[in-house]
Amino acid sequence: MAATVRRLDPDDWRMLRSVRLEALRESPKSFGGSHAEEVSQDESYWRGLFSPSTALFQAQIEGDSVGLAVGIAARPDDVDPEAAHLGSMWVAPASRGSRAADLLVTAVVGWARETGHPRVVLWVFDDTPRAAAFYRRAGFKETSRTRTDDTRSRTMRLLSMTV
Ligand SMILES: CC(C)(COP(=O)(O)OP(=O)(O)OC[C@H]1O[C@@H](n2cnc3c(N)ncnc32)[C@H](O)[C@@H]1OP(=O)(O)O)[C@@H](O)C(=O)NCCC(=O)NCCS
Repeated sequence: MAATVRRLDPDDWRMLRSVRLEALRESPKSFGGSHAEEVSQDESYWRGLFSPSTALFQAQIEGDSVGLAVGIAARPDDVDPEAAHLGSMWVAPASRGSRAADLLVTAVVGWARETGHPRVVLWVFDDTPRAAAFYRRAGFKETSRTRTDDTRSRTMRLLSMTV
């Protein structure tokens, strides 16, 4: 059955917690955060992720939660101060290749466009080739910007899409 995507609201915080912790458990090398840090967070932390400058989207297939993506509004001190940021992108392994990921990107891009952003950017680790391939297919382009993670052992690249 085809995937659907819906925007979460603060009362969905338990759903958000569940899918985010599963993402961190299943793909520990793909994200800035860690399961150990986030598993101990309380309700106020999860509710606090909903704000006027964020949009959180969940993918479902037949009522099961299969993915997550977050849009974050542009910040003046960010690498591209006009661009919205796509983060926390994850699709459960059994649903990869199902186009759930495309729907999540479409949702974040649509939100970014509606909120007046000219671009969406994201950071992707060099050693997550499936994610990089997916983003390229979804329309993101390489930029010249790179950075290393806190251990300085892994490189991330900034990808950008005009919306
Ligand atoms: C990134 C993610 C959301 C993409 O969703 P997906 O459903 O896997 O994406 P798709 O299957 O539609 O596209 C993946 C592409 O990578 C290709 N691919 C698969 N394995 C690959 C590999 N090891 N190396 C390079 N490309 C690969 C696929 O063929 C496909 O390309 P195609 O559509 O041109 O054939 C998902 O893989 C995921 O959740 N990964 C773990 C978390 C993660 O890395 N998140 C990104 C954080 S920036």
